[in-house]
Amino acid sequence: MDNYFNGREVHKSLFLDQQLFEQEQQRVFAASWCYLGHDSLIPETGDYFTATLAAQPLAMVRQKNGDIVVLHNRCPHKGVKVLAEARGNVGRFMRCPYHAWTFKTDGELLSIPVKKEYDDCDLSSCSAHKGMQPVAAVRNYRGFVFVRLSETGMGFDEFFGESLSTLDNMVMRSPQGKLRVVGQPLLHKHRCNWKMVVDNQTDTCHPMIAHESSAGEAIRLWKETGDQSQPAPMAVELFSPFMASYEFFAGMGIRVWPNGHGHTGVSNSIHKAYTGIPGYWELMVESYGEDQARAILDDTRHNTVYFPNLMVKGPIQTLRVIRPVSAQETIVESWIFELQGAPVQLLERTVQYNNLINSPCSMVAHDDVEMYERAMEGLHSDANEWVNVARLFEPGETYDQTRVVSGTSELAMRNFYDNWQNLMRDDHAPRSN
Ligand code: FES
Ligand SMILES: [Fe+2]
Repeated sequence: MDNYFNGREVHKSLFLDQQLFEQEQQRVFAASWCYLGHDSLIPETGDYFTATLAAQPLAMVRQKNGDIVVLHNRCPHKGVKVLAEARGNVGRFMRCPYHAWTFKTDGELLSIPVKKEYDDCDLSSCSAHKGMQPVAAVRNYRGFVFVRLSETGMGFDEFFGESLSTLDNMVMRSPQGKLRVVGQPLLHKHRCNWKMVVDNQTDTCHPMIAHESSAGEAIRLWKETGDQSQPAPMAVELFSPFMASYEFFAGMGIRVWPNGHGHTGVSNSIHKAYTGIPGYWELMVESYGEDQARAILDDTRHNTVYFPNLMVKGPIQTLRVIRPVSAQETIVESWIFELQGAPVQLLERTVQYNNLINSPCSMVAHDDVEMYERAMEGLHSDANEWVNVARLFEPGETYDQTRVVSGTSELAMRNFYDNWQNLMRDDHAPRSN
């Protein structure tokens, strides 16, 4: 099989095959710019945050000069993970708990107990002497820290191009132009392949069907039993757009960018109709002027998919990292952000959205999880080897340019699978920086 994506269908092995999963860790994840974490997680010198990417244990550490260094979280002596917690502070230096080799905050080897016993071994020619190794490439974009593990691959600006406008917009929703991570992420384990979760983000023809039993029921209950002279509760306001019509979703549009990125909600979105928060508009006008403030807040793009596994919702300040565990298992991490300098009600809405929609206790997320798990079962059928993504396919379409199409198109999925396939090809030669 050398063709997993034929333009309108993807092969089912993308979702089931563990060998493919292991190849994609190297060919897709290591060669791409992947989001690691937000720099507000590590505000002070010596603060660190750890995560695993493409099976590599990593740590980002705040340096004395304010820079962020991303290291392979592995002692150069015998391989022990040096920083064991999700977050913490290393103090003045890092110390391996096994034999107490120590390292500067940038990973450089600082000391070894009874070092004279290495006098005759020419330690400086051993790889252990290099200390904890930095990753190949790091970029802190307005607080969002991305890494590329492979030495070769596309540069950051070329990889993301105009798609960075989603992150720009999320940052500028803060009157101070600053975001802060709040709390710990919600973790939700799914028994499905990670690409199903990505695919779902631009699947606008499922909400009114799959979420009818949750969002639809909440709306019905409110209509039947709520006091209609009062504003709808926030939960109903957040649920309501899930039951919007095909025409609504078609009209909101989808934009795709090169290299597999894309977003729903070009000219309208399910986040548009939220009620205003008193005082927020005035603060935004004070910071940006009326025209720019309006442009920022009118940009209500819905889900932005950054290839391969980052999902951003700017207007509600949430971000999800889709972490592949195996071909059949995925962990979805949902993070929330505070817009610094904005009224606290915005953060309250963000917290409530994350709880209602993204958490393991969400009423809505379970509809999707049920579909992913049933798909994992159904795909074992030999009746059909292909998964269809042909909706609004245009003969001759290409994936190398920014385009806006109907919001019910599956172009964003095709754009994603095309990039995945390009990276996975056996003869794929990494492009130089
Ligand atoms: S394994 Fe780290 S000091 Fe020995
Ligand atoms: Fe959904």
